[in-house]
Amino acid sequence: MTAPVTPVPPGPAGSTAPPWALLAELTHACPLHCPYCSNPLELTRRSAELSTEEWTDVLRQAGELGVVHTHLSGGEPLLRPDLERIVAAAEAAGIYTQLVTSGTGLDEARLASLTAAGLRSVQLSVQHADPRAGDRIAGRPSSFAAKERAAALVRAAGLPLGLNVVLHRDNLDAVDALIELGVAWGADRVELANAQFYGWGLLNRAALLPTRDQLARARETVERRREHLAGRVDLVWVVPDYFEGVAKPCMGGWGAVSLTVAPDGTVLPCPAAASLPDLSPPTVRDRPLAWIWEHSAAFNRFRGTDWMTGPCGGCPRREEDFGGCRCQAFALTGDAARTDPACALSPDHRLVREPADAGRAVVPPPYVYRRPGAVPPAAPVRPARA
Ligand code: SF4
Ligand code: FES
Repeated sequence: MTAPVTPVPPGPAGSTAPPWALLAELTHACPLHCPYCSNPLELTRRSAELSTEEWTDVLRQAGELGVVHTHLSGGEPLLRPDLERIVAAAEAAGIYTQLVTSGTGLDEARLASLTAAGLRSVQLSVQHADPRAGDRIAGRPSSFAAKERAAALVRAAGLPLGLNVVLHRDNLDAVDALIELGVAWGADRVELANAQFYGWGLLNRAALLPTRDQLARARETVERRREHLAGRVDLVWVVPDYFEGVAKPCMGGWGAVSLTVAPDGTVLPCPAAASLPDLSPPTVRDRPLAWIWEHSAAFNRFRGTDWMTGPCGGCPRREEDFGGCRCQAFALTGDAARTDPACALSPDHRLVREPADAGRAVVPPPYVYRRPGAVPPAAPVRPARA
């Protein structure tokens, strides 16, 4: 799964204004094995997933809480045989549904039943514009062909279509071709999201990290094509924080605008927060969603700016970028409360600058493909600073 990019307005710091968006990770099962997946290294077993009735109740509660937009994601959400009932539950709760899918397993009948249940739009992941390269990155033969078929079905059904591409060293040079692919497949929106390096992405960082030259060329291409495509295709470029010296306003702020419900009902401020060892995230099996959002320690831990120390504490940008990404701060320094090392003001900035400046190896290491058991639970990725 690639974390979708939702255009969300930032909430006021320190507030418990209602959430705007819900990322529903319906399952971690997936036919693809992308090496940058935003799912946690330890994937949830299918037997632990929420039932149809539990998802229905989560969506009812989300609607009451103020959520207006949900990404139905995974893993591959099409692997849930009850997906239509989950879409219908969101529709009944007044929530706009976007299916975030690899396209594998989508056929005309399934799309028709999802549309009848209330599905409003589809976001399709794409790994490369070249079928062989795409299949290699996804770790599955014929996955590109499945995406091409899925895109045609979505357009024929009259639903809005977005493509989501995670960019890295193996596809950044194909940005022009990827944009062309979006045009050819009839996409309304193409999200070009530079890879984030935590979880599977951090595990594969040496294979995925691009060079500054690659990024500069790709950015130029996007700017040029954006002008040509204005009014036809929305091109979204998500900045590569390792290279800019600027921290990203991750999730629009911790517990500010969105929440993630994992397949087993764990509720998180972002998809990667399960990696924070002392977070003790709550679950919808124990607590109402409204209590979790407003009162749980996990959601209040980094909400607003009061928790900030170090350079963030007195920084004029702290209510714009919220100190960056807590999961990246933990992954690189072992302390989720430190300033995100992506920020040039962070005392740990060398942890991103050095790998970003190192240039790329002539022969990159092979991918560690995302699959259950690929990383033993007893051997987590150690923080780089430790
Ligand atoms: Fe943002 Fe903190 Fe860096 Fe200031 S010091 S720019 S608040 S990450
Ligand atoms: Fe968790 Fe950024 S991914 S705060």
